[in-house]
Amino acid sequence: MRGLTWTVGSTRIVDDVTFDVADGEFVAVIGPNGAGKTSLFNLISGLIRPTAGSVTLDGVDLTAAPPHRRARLGLGRTFQSSSVFPALTVRENVRIAAASRGSCLRLWRRASADRAASSAAEAALDDVGLSSHAADLAGTLSHGDKRKLELAVLLATEPRIMLLDEPMAGVATGDVPALTELIREIHRAGRPVLMVEHHMEVLLGLADRVAVMHHGALLAIDTPARVMDDETVQHAYVGEPL
Ligand SMILES: Nc1ncnc2c1ncn2[C@@H]1O[C@H](COP(=O)(O)OP(=O)(O)OP(=O)(O)O)[C@@H](O)[C@H]1O
Ligand SMILES: [Mg+2]
Repeated sequence: MRGLTWTVGSTRIVDDVTFDVADGEFVAVIGPNGAGKTSLFNLISGLIRPTAGSVTLDGVDLTAAPPHRRARLGLGRTFQSSSVFPALTVRENVRIAAASRGSCLRLWRRASADRAASSAAEAALDDVGLSSHAADLAGTLSHGDKRKLELAVLLATEPRIMLLDEPMAGVATGDVPALTELIREIHRAGRPVLMVEHHMEVLLGLADRVAVMHHGALLAIDTPARVMDDETVQHAYVGEPL
């Protein structure tokens, strides 16, 4: 992204943010509440249009593309609040995502498209360790398992890059290590990840670089260790645990 800016009234909610995520890289986004992290993700995924700046994926300018086109081109994201369909089964939730991926291949016959969506869904459930819950209603899952389901839904769309907005939010402390390990596995498969996260112990083990946002602007982007040492970063977090 280049010079990404989003202004509401006279407030710059995202202020001239420029950085790239390299192939295979894991970049964490941190910053105090209201720093503009989710807004940045909304700009990248196309839910909101920037006032200025651009978003590119593999050299293709997506700044004017609607969210579904960005998703088809491989920009996948999860949301800060849980976004599963509670009245559908775990398997149905993932299948819908897998089918949405297949629907762009219009030449496929319906039966083979259905089979492909089913096997993609089963593979994604297996990846996140939810196969044994496939027939359960999504609404009955624990919070940690709902977060895993959201990751399976995302994996089923076979994204080129994954944007994860606080994937640990609301998850019981005891479930954080398993979810961290799962995200590590997903990333190890070669996908670049951009992730908003408040748990510093999670980030330190996962991230190649940490981007720090403050009042909408990019305050620093560097290795986790160097970011932690940065005085301006510490200043931004005064009163908040790093
Ligand atoms: N649609 C909107 N209209 C006006 N202001 C908004 C809108 N969306 C977000 N904001 C404001 O923009 C600022 C940044 O919000 P954002 O949700 O991006 O922050 P965040 O860094 O994700 O915070 P958190 O850590 O709490 O999730 C906040 O002050 C918020 O109130
Ligand atoms: Mg947010």
